[in-house]
This record gives sequence, C-alpha cells and structure tokens, in this order.
Amino acid sequence: MNASHSPVDFNDRMLSLGLARVSEKAALASAKLIGHGDEKAADQAAVDAMRTELNRLEIQGVIVIGEGERDEAPMLYIGEEVGQGEGPSVDIALDPLEGTTLTAKDMPNALTVIAMGPRGSMLHAPDVYMEKLAIGPGYAPGVVTLDMSPAERVRELAKAKGGDNDDITVCILERPRHEDLIAEVRSTGAAIRLITDGDVAGVMHCAESQRTGIDMYMGSGGAPEGVLAAAALKCMGGQMYGQLLFRNDDERGRAAKAGITDLDRVYTRDDMVTRDVIFAATGVTDGSLLPGIKREVGWLTAETLLMRSKTGSVRRMVYRNPAP
Ligand code: FBP
Repeated sequence: MNASHSPVDFNDRMLSLGLARVSEKAALASAKLIGHGDEKAADQAAVDAMRTELNRLEIQGVIVIGEGERDEAPMLYIGEEVGQGEGPSVDIALDPLEGTTLTAKDMPNALTVIAMGPRGSMLHAPDVYMEKLAIGPGYAPGVVTLDMSPAERVRELAKAKGGDNDDITVCILERPRHEDLIAEVRSTGAAIRLITDGDVAGVMHCAESQRTGIDMYMGSGGAPEGVLAAAALKCMGGQMYGQLLFRNDDERGRAAKAGITDLDRVYTRDDMVTRDVIFAATGVTDGSLLPGIKREVGWLTAETLLMRSKTGSVRRMVYRNPAP
C-alpha cells in the first residue's frame, strides 16, 4: 500500500514539541502589543504566527475550535485545513490569544492556547455560551455537579476537602450576569477570585490549586473556551461539566450546524474531549499559572505548559530567543 494513503498514528509524544513551538510563537508575536490598548492587533499577531507555525507541522490538521466561521475569520476559521498535508489526521482546538483585553491592558493571565487530538476527539462547540463547573484532581467523581446549587457545591467540596466553606476559593468571571451567583457563593463564606476575562486559565487554576489558591470554577463563558479548558483538565486531572446556553434561534442554529442535536445535554470533561490529546499554553502576561513574556534588551523569554493526557505529563518549558 502506498505510504501516503495508509493511516498514520497520532504520535502525541513526537507532536508535542511542535505544538509547544506553535504556542510559543503566538505568544511571542503578541508580546510587542502587550499594554498597547489594541486588542485586534494583538489577536491578529497571535493568529498570524500560530497559523504560520501550524503549517510547518507534518499533520493533516483541521481546526474544530478556532477564530469563528469562515466568513467572519479569514484565518484559523473552523474547518480550515492546516499543516503540511502529510502525517496523522488531527483535530485542533485553539485560541491564539485567550484574553485579548487582558493583553491590551497588560492585565494578568493572558495565554495562548492550543490542543490537538486524533480526528473526532473534541466536541465541535458552537460559538455560544456554556455554563461551566470545574474542580481539580483528587476528588470522588461527581462530588459537585451542575444540578447542585452554587451553595451546595461549596458545601460538598469543603466537606470533601476536609475543611469548612471558608477554606474554599471559587473563581468566577466578573459579569453582571453572575451577580446572583456571586452573592450566593459569598453567602456560604467561601472566597471568590473574580477575573475580568480568561476562563480557560480560570478552569486550569483548579488543577493546580496549591499554586493558584483556586478550588473551583463556576459560571458561564464561551463554549469554545470550555472545550479548550476540558482538554487542559484531561491532561492535568480534574472534573469539569459544561452545558451549552442558547439565547436565540440563531445560536440554536449554530449548534445544529455543528451537529449537536441534544441542546440540553450536560457534557463531562470526557464527553467534550473523548480521546487522548496534547495541550500547550504559553503565558503572554504574568499570571498565577504561567509567567508572561519577558522582554530584555536583545532577548525574549516565554514559558509554556506542555501536557499529554495519555501520560498525565505536565512540562514547563522556558524558551529564550534573541529578539527579532
Ligand atoms: P477573548 O480572549 O476572545 O477576548 O475571550 C475572553 C473571555 O473572557 C473568555 O475567556 C470567556 O470564555 C469569554 O471571553 C466570556 O465572554 P463574555 O466576555 O461575553 O462574558
């Protein structure tokens, strides 16, 4: 059989360094725009760099979570084919700049994020909101669920942690739609870390709670970011639930287009990411998970988290390069 027609295995070990390069390049490209108040320019720089670097990889890649539909995103749109066109058939979920406003304002926790898995490994989430709930590893399955009220989740997690409600810190996006959620969580005595953007990082914080101080993530945010967060937790350990939220028929239509029939389904982490994946995230601005890009005269330094769900390996890689 002609080798180019035979299926090629998803060699996650070999592909992971390539994925780290993609993530690093996107972060480095947006670095010069940190704090310059121009979200679009920062995002564009990251998109361009990510695409160039992805196209160097020996993969037959398809973007399943990307910058949007083809007509609204000229690059890295959903369905776009990337890579050299040889090698394994892979699905790619990405957010070249998770936290465009954080980058433009030089606020903490902006990241570049990318996950890759075999074809069909990740939920094709439409660009709608998702109700999210996440905790880190080490808890019994289902210790907290989306069915529980926010206060019940705090109580159950505190019990499971062997402490009181005030030993729990919940991360929530600061939005008017979360006012009731925030009030209910506060009424339990738990602490809240409010973030202005970046819920992929918010969810990832749960998996490293000793480093970050966050035990649980709650609230609604982008569904594409939900799938990326699920991919991260599949590598780092931890539980996650997500339920798509629809505000109108247009959004329901987006779900239908993505092949989703059960609009009320509650997805677990492993429903969103069904097979082993690799995941890379590079810090753009300083945060509690990753330091941001350091700019010294003549040098740029980036730190990347590189993870494989098959082995649960989490690498932190520091990349130092002469500034262009
Ligand atoms: P961008 O990086 O695309 O700006 O998204 C930032 C973000 O905060 C996500 O992390 C989050 O899922 C989403 O926006 C929340 O959406 P909204 O700002 O509409 O509440």
